[in-house]
Amino acid sequence: MPHAHPDVQDRANQASYAGADAVRHYPRLGHLHPAEKVLFGAYEADLAGRAVLDIGVGGGRTTGHLAPPAREYVGLDYSPGLAAATAARFPDHRIEEADVRDLSRFDDGSFDTVVFSFNGLDYIGHEDRAIALREMRRVLRHGGLLLLSSHNRDYRRFHLLPWQGRPRPGRATARRCYAAWRARANRRRLRPHETIRPTWAIVNDDAHDYSMLTYYVGADESRNQLRAAGFADVATFDLAGDAVERDDRAVWLYYTARAA
Ligand SMILES: C[S@@+](CC[C@H](N)C(=O)[O-])C[C@H]1O[C@@H](n2cnc3c(N)ncnc32)[C@H](O)[C@@H]1O
Repeated sequence: MPHAHPDVQDRANQASYAGADAVRHYPRLGHLHPAEKVLFGAYEADLAGRAVLDIGVGGGRTTGHLAPPAREYVGLDYSPGLAAATAARFPDHRIEEADVRDLSRFDDGSFDTVVFSFNGLDYIGHEDRAIALREMRRVLRHGGLLLLSSHNRDYRRFHLLPWQGRPRPGRATARRCYAAWRARANRRRLRPHETIRPTWAIVNDDAHDYSMLTYYVGADESRNQLRAAGFADVATFDLAGDAVERDDRAVWLYYTARAA
């Protein structure tokens, strides 16, 4: 069975996030996703007046929402260009270059809340994901909140190209087909490095013109991974922020969990 070699995945994904397109793109984003509006409201007590770590901060889309109410706010990103751009954009806040797999600059229990938004955790491999979850657990105080989103292995259009699986006819599908055709060199390069398992997978999807290998995980497996890393009270939410057990209509899902 072909297997996503962690080095290939890491190299491809780090190159995309370090690239000029990403460094231009992410600082332009400012709005919260519908589920984030719901969850940031529902968990306001974990954000306002608290120490918040915002990992994979990108261009700072969430900074303007999370930093002002927080007592202490730290944003991290492993893309040097994005970390520098966001630090320049928010000079009053601590924004640093760092990888979620190594949070050794922080003591155990340093934060009340850790956020890893917009599926940023999905760009490292299966084994590294367990390391990252344990690191996020370690820097949270007991009872602290983790909030993240992740691509959904149970999505009904998982691993389908835009023209496959009876797509809805229309301009959006036509645009996606054209983008996939234009990116055929990236698809040819990365598809041999995919891993597809029943409960999780690492696949070359349409992210950044098919230049990345993205982790998809089913809701049951994701909750198990969170529990194995030392979290409890794990909850799952759809794109609207409604609680679900699993959902095959959502391309990604949101999770909240408490440091046990
Ligand atoms: C999809 S982007 C989202 C950016 C931002 N959170 C937003 O919502 O606009 C994912 C971000 O996670 C960062 N990232 C991915 N893997 C990371 C890692 N291992 N450690 C730290 N940051 C990472 C990327 O550089 C990128 O900025």
